[in-house]
Amino acid sequence: MLRTHTCGQLRKENVGETITVCGWIDSYRDHGGSLFVDLRDRYGKTQVVFTAESGPGILDTARMLRDEWVIQVTGIVAPRPEGTINPKLDTGEIEVRSRSLTVLNKCQTPPFTPSTRDLPGEDLRLKHRYIDLRRAEMQRTLILRHRMIKGMRDYFDQHNFLEIETPILGRSTPEGARDYLVPSRVHAGKFYALPQSPQLYKQILMIAGYDRYVQVARCFRDEDLRADRQPEFTQLDVEMAFVTAEDIIGIIDGLVQKLAKEVLGLDVPLPLPRMTYDEAMEKYGHDAPDLRFDMQIVDCTDLAAQTEFRVFRAAADAGLKVRGMNAKGAASKYSRSMIDEMTDWVKNDFGAKGLAWFKVEADGSLASPIAKNFAPELLAQIKDRLNGAPGDFLVFMADTFEVTCKGLYALRKKFGVDLKLYDPAKMHCSWIVEFPMFAWDPEEKTWAAMHHPFTAPRPQDLAKLDSDPAACRAIAYDLVINGSEAGGGTIRIHDQDVQQQVFRLLGIDAEKARDRFGFLLDALQFGAPPHGGIALGIDRWVMLFAGLDNIRDCIAFPKTQKASDLMTEAPGDVDLRQLRELSIQTVKPAK
Ligand code: AMO
Ligand code: AMP
Repeated sequence: MLRTHTCGQLRKENVGETITVCGWIDSYRDHGGSLFVDLRDRYGKTQVVFTAESGPGILDTARMLRDEWVIQVTGIVAPRPEGTINPKLDTGEIEVRSRSLTVLNKCQTPPFTPSTRDLPGEDLRLKHRYIDLRRAEMQRTLILRHRMIKGMRDYFDQHNFLEIETPILGRSTPEGARDYLVPSRVHAGKFYALPQSPQLYKQILMIAGYDRYVQVARCFRDEDLRADRQPEFTQLDVEMAFVTAEDIIGIIDGLVQKLAKEVLGLDVPLPLPRMTYDEAMEKYGHDAPDLRFDMQIVDCTDLAAQTEFRVFRAAADAGLKVRGMNAKGAASKYSRSMIDEMTDWVKNDFGAKGLAWFKVEADGSLASPIAKNFAPELLAQIKDRLNGAPGDFLVFMADTFEVTCKGLYALRKKFGVDLKLYDPAKMHCSWIVEFPMFAWDPEEKTWAAMHHPFTAPRPQDLAKLDSDPAACRAIAYDLVINGSEAGGGTIRIHDQDVQQQVFRLLGIDAEKARDRFGFLLDALQFGAPPHGGIALGIDRWVMLFAGLDNIRDCIAFPKTQKASDLMTEAPGDVDLRQLRELSIQTVKPAK
């Protein structure tokens, strides 16, 4: 070993020992007769002092040290002089008096230093990721990530799960995103697809009798990226045989409780609360509501039908919805121009036609440019319906159920942040259950699977599969943490006939089903046990547990919004020869 101790290790107890440490120069201060260096590695920082006593020429060499050079120092541990003790540092009571110095490597002037207070733009951090990853914050997150994954593996091991790897090169999987394809050299013109999830393999493992499967699995999806989405991400993938949804939810409940305790010291009472999909849409306008605060959407369509206000009346008459929300105490927070901005936002981003609003005055009356269109009794009823009190800000949208959901969900999120309605240190975990089996795809004019085509309908809804697909509910469950979808799963169809029926509904004819999932359909005929599972988004879990709001900060080497790796410059060009071997010709993309 080139070192006897790490930079985070030395304490008062080591005073007098001769030790060797290695690390990066975090900072240096030249005081003339002495030079101080903060030496850093992933364990911490240690102050090293170079003086004339260090030995011949050492102080002169030390004077050439610059940020991020890598050095090895042998020296004697000494107590820091009175008044120079740094209580913020674990090693703050000691310093190392250097007796020898070896420059292990120099460093070019770095584009930024790991201890910088004003972080440069993310592109620069991603390009020089090796420097960015030296930052204490990135280290903390990656250490947390390691501990969380270890905690997950230990938990599932204790519960008798086997971790089994599944292929990366395979057939297209059914999660509904675009595939990443890999051309085959041996089979000219054919392609592997990278897994969007190990869904089909894990179902096959159940049929093969491995009744408790788990995997830390890499998944690939070519979709539009957001702050909580990466083109390649990691799932904690789980599948179990001979279970009900309750069993799977129960296992994950236990995992949430364990990790919250181990990682954050939080006590999460079990079972985690549950809400149906319909209730979530009704009350919060979204299937992954942030339940750290309780602001609910209230339906006022019946009251709207009685008003003279054209917008409300017309909506109610047309069978649309008028729904509102009460931002408690927010009346003074939002000026007219801020409300105008809010209105433009919901119009432009969520297709709303406008935003109707009232402020509850000190005398309990409702103030708004549209108030004159309402009879006073009706205003009082609206106020009561929303539980309005002086100082409250009431907003309403008249539109389709879907548009009111989108708009009010976005406003609710905004109010949550603006009005500081939740404690960011707290965590709220819950289950959303009973999702619809299908969602209508207006562009393709077909039903699409809400989760994936292997999801089982509730037994009581089997008869509705053909007669009323929209009313069909799935045995599906999503785990929501702080308003983020942290996991999702279902009980699977293990009956060939039901599977065929669902395929038919999804417009997957027998030939296509055979071509894409033939192996699964075959396997289902060779003794398939009832089974189900779930996948947790590990990157999102880390993001939520670390209190971060960007998934890229939880991944060592993430991709940008445009799916590039700025460090390696992937995706990149390839040789013509490679393309020829793969029987591939590229065409210039149309402008
Ligand atoms: P699903 O598609 O819901 O289910 O994915 C499970 C969880 O993975 C996370 N996730 C993502 N995280 C980061 N970037 C992405 N692009 C991304 N996409 C998904 C989410 C999500 O809840 N095979 C099924 C699971 C099952 O049925 O067992 C599946 O993949 O946290
Ligand atoms: P208008 O009569 O269109 O000028 O609208 C009067 C007020 O009602 C404005 O504040 C609009 O933002 C609001 N408004 C218009 N359409 C809707 C709607 N569909 N839902 C809620 N408010 C609306």
